[in-house]
Amino acid sequence: MKIVLLGYMASGKSAVGKVLAKKMNLQFIDLDDFIEKKEGKSISDIFDLHGEIYFRRVEAIYLEEVLNLSENCIISLGGGTPCYGNNMEYLKNKSVSFYLNASIQTIFDRLEGETSQRPLVATIGKENLKEYLAKHLFERNPFYQKADFTISVDNKSLNTIVEAIE
Ligand code: S3P
Repeated sequence: MKIVLLGYMASGKSAVGKVLAKKMNLQFIDLDDFIEKKEGKSISDIFDLHGEIYFRRVEAIYLEEVLNLSENCIISLGGGTPCYGNNMEYLKNKSVSFYLNASIQTIFDRLEGETSQRPLVATIGKENLKEYLAKHLFERNPFYQKADFTISVDNKSLNTIVEAIE
């Protein structure tokens, strides 16, 4: 079985995935790290050199690859992964998925001051960030809501979230 963690940037997918995998004694795969290794470039460089359309294409290909690995594992996705092409349908067929649901305020607090490594928000000034997040989350929520389970993460410790998924 594959357990997939999805949700917006800074919702805690990678941090939760690492702890959960350790507790369940399963392999952990972070899709962004997987893409970086396969492409030999950072996510920021992929966006800069090839653009977002190229990134979404390789993201879908590598998503399929990790979902077809033979072993059980925990996979954390990129924030946009479920929202493009047939990725969400594919995920529904191949995994049990958990949406880590963080509020706009939580995401804003976490992203504020550390947007530089995240190409989608790197050029958005702090004064416009909250409005951008509200709009973007509104667009993405219909995809996230298709996950098998939703876990609210606001004001929760890492351990509490991991226990809820377990
Ligand atoms: C993206 C989120 C990033 C990364 C890429 C695009 C998005 O992953 O995949 O920058 O579209 O929300 P994280 O959610 O791990 O930051």
